Amino acid sequence: MDTLRTATGADREALASLLSHAFAFEPELSVPWFERAGHDHVWAFDVDGALAGGLIVIPMGQHFGGRAVPMTGIAGVGVAPEFRGRGAGTCMMREAVRALHREGAAISTLYPATVPLYERAGWARAGLLVGTAVRPHDLDATHEPSLRVRPLADLDDPALRALQSSHARLRNGSLARGPYIWTRLAKPMKGAPRYFAVEGSEGLEGYVVLLHQERDGHDTEVIVTDAAVATPRAARAIVAVLASYRSLAQQVRWTGAPHDTLTQLLRDRMHTVTVREVWMLRVVDVPRALAARGYNPHLRASIAFAVADDVVPENARTWRLTVEGGVGAVTPDDGTPDVSLDVRALAPLYTGFRSATTLAAAGLAQGDPAALALADLLFAGESPAMIEMF
Ligand SMILES: CC(C)(COP(=O)(O)OP(=O)(O)OC[C@H]1O[C@@H](n2cnc3c(N)ncnc32)[C@H](O)[C@@H]1OP(=O)(O)O)[C@@H](O)C(=O)NCCC(=O)NCCS
Repeated sequence: MDTLRTATGADREALASLLSHAFAFEPELSVPWFERAGHDHVWAFDVDGALAGGLIVIPMGQHFGGRAVPMTGIAGVGVAPEFRGRGAGTCMMREAVRALHREGAAISTLYPATVPLYERAGWARAGLLVGTAVRPHDLDATHEPSLRVRPLADLDDPALRALQSSHARLRNGSLARGPYIWTRLAKPMKGAPRYFAVEGSEGLEGYVVLLHQERDGHDTEVIVTDAAVATPRAARAIVAVLASYRSLAQQVRWTGAPHDTLTQLLRDRMHTVTVREVWMLRVVDVPRALAARGYNPHLRASIAFAVADDVVPENARTWRLTVEGGVGAVTPDDGTPDVSLDVRALAPLYTGFRSATTLAAAGLAQGDPAALALADLLFAGESPAMIEMF
């Protein structure tokens, strides 16, 4: 008998040992990890009464179409070596999806170490985490005379949180962060980050969080772990801060897509943009997820999706999505569907990672060309990207 349950005090130590071995880190590091996640969010998986694996759930949100959709992040998925290769991991993830559905999650996102494991539970590749690296000599070091750069003691300032939240809301795939992500940024497992605010006469216009650390035993590098701006001049001021490390640092790097604000300020091609991770998303609750994301306010449309789902039977039926004024309403529908697809194809459509038309060309969705083109339009947006690992 296989069971997924919240880890109890008694077996938290065994799970800490199991996960630290699975991820090759010191067992002591599991304690702060579990505490950061909250003990209720550490789940254990038993096979025939023995602890076989576990995972961590992180409730937060993820922005699509300008709205924060309730999203549960998944981390720390591990199975003990003696249980591997017999379907325990698959069974645990399929159970986890059903548990998330019962708890009311709309979507779930994770960074996969191996894709098939999660595909079997209904996750699918749906967005990128991209890294940009540049020599600080190639950055514009010109200071913005109208702005002041000031070190911050922490990241708790309400104005900073508000600025980050408006910055993130505009960007498909960016997180609506909870305490887990903020703590991870403020106090990462390795290194001591510095925080800098960029202020104008009206107050905060941007901030940057960075680490300056040794690289190759001699040179150094600057790693930007977080940055957000409200104005173009604040972005230029942050670039100037990064350029000021050029006497020692061989490179500056940050996570962000080629279209992100900082990368867009680079003057020439002397930088590298690398896809570091392709994250996966699971539409846990189809009607909730479709109703929770935002849509283009200028579109008025109605479309029926027939969704197949071999893990969550409540999702598997036809749903009519009616969009008006940027908001989607979802109702069960008994008519002929316009577009038919598996929940695994709905994930990249939902995030705007793939269009319905290209999914259909790959045999992953069915519908007539006009219905597919309408679905393309409904979910179109800036390419979905995340900057935070969890
Ligand atoms: C990844 C892991 C959780 C899989 O557990 P498991 O019980 O062996 O998984 P399953 O038996 O259900 O295998 C499902 C699929 O996952 C993939 N998979 C399983 N173990 C794998 C491994 N060690 N390496 C790469 N892929 C693996 C395979 O595609 C497998 O399907 P297949 O056996 O038909 O090829 C387990 O190997 C583990 O704990 N690894 C170390 C930690 C880790 O990598 N966690 C994932 C972080 S995102």
